[in-house]
Amino acid sequence: MSIPRETLDSISEIYHENTKDRERVIPMDFGYAPATGPWHRAFKKYPHRPRLALSVPEPAASPGAEEVMRSRRTLRQFAGEPLTLTEVERLLYFTNGITGAVPLEGGTLPLRASPSAGALYPIEVYLAALSVDGLEQGIYHYEVEGNALEFVRPGSFGEEIFEITHRQEMVREASACLFMTAMFGRTKHKYGERGYRYVLLDAGHLAQNLYLESTALGLGCATIGGFLDDRANRLIGVDGLEESVLYMAVVGRVLSNGGEKV
Ligand SMILES: Cc1cc2nc3c(=O)[nH]c(=O)nc-3n(C[C@H](O)[C@H](O)[C@H](O)COP(=O)(O)O)c2cc1C
Repeated sequence: MSIPRETLDSISEIYHENTKDRERVIPMDFGYAPATGPWHRAFKKYPHRPRLALSVPEPAASPGAEEVMRSRRTLRQFAGEPLTLTEVERLLYFTNGITGAVPLEGGTLPLRASPSAGALYPIEVYLAALSVDGLEQGIYHYEVEGNALEFVRPGSFGEEIFEITHRQEMVREASACLFMTAMFGRTKHKYGERGYRYVLLDAGHLAQNLYLESTALGLGCATIGGFLDDRANRLIGVDGLEESVLYMAVVGRVLSNGGEKV
């Protein structure tokens, strides 16, 4: 049953209404099986940029999943000390790395720690290394297929990120900032406009994994929805249309008193 058009009075209501799955618009074969074809292998790469191979983390003797979920909190105060490269490696891997694969006609389908509609994985992750031992300051792209960092551009971008995030103080003491972008076409080519919803849901799954891995490593994390879109896109070098920043997060070392959790 459709809601009468005249009662829809905001863009989000119009969008939501017009992207409802309805039997009459979804053909029988438009199912939710993993996508086949080239799209599910669409890994973004920067082949001409310096590249740093990362290792696939061994399972750590970290607290159990339930303990991590219970203790996860947004932390907005950090000690300002550098992260190790191993910590960054683990954060990226458990946020967007390939954790397994299933056989698929003609090959295998790589899978990740978070679910993704149609296994299409529209989210890319970029790292602004603010203070990471062994990493020059600058913007990096996490190259998923090869589990590597690609050095997009050098620079000390802490102040710019502080401005981009409406001057949220926590950014100043953070050691790393992550940008989650969406490559909308990966999901929309299968699901049409409804795919936009799935892309947003996918980003939320990644962010929760980032929170949980930060917690497991004893680090503080805060996700950030309040940021200046155009400036964030410009900073990491994406066009804001085909690919656009959806979500940001900062990670840092926890203060000795644990910091405030409000
Ligand atoms: C979509 C989204 C956007 C958020 N944006 C911000 C933000 O811009 N700044 C911030 O300090 N916290 C931000 N947060 C964190 C929330 O404020 C936080 O999750 C909430 O207060 C609950 O606290 P907890 O995460 O410690 O349980 C965001 C959380 C979500 C899910």
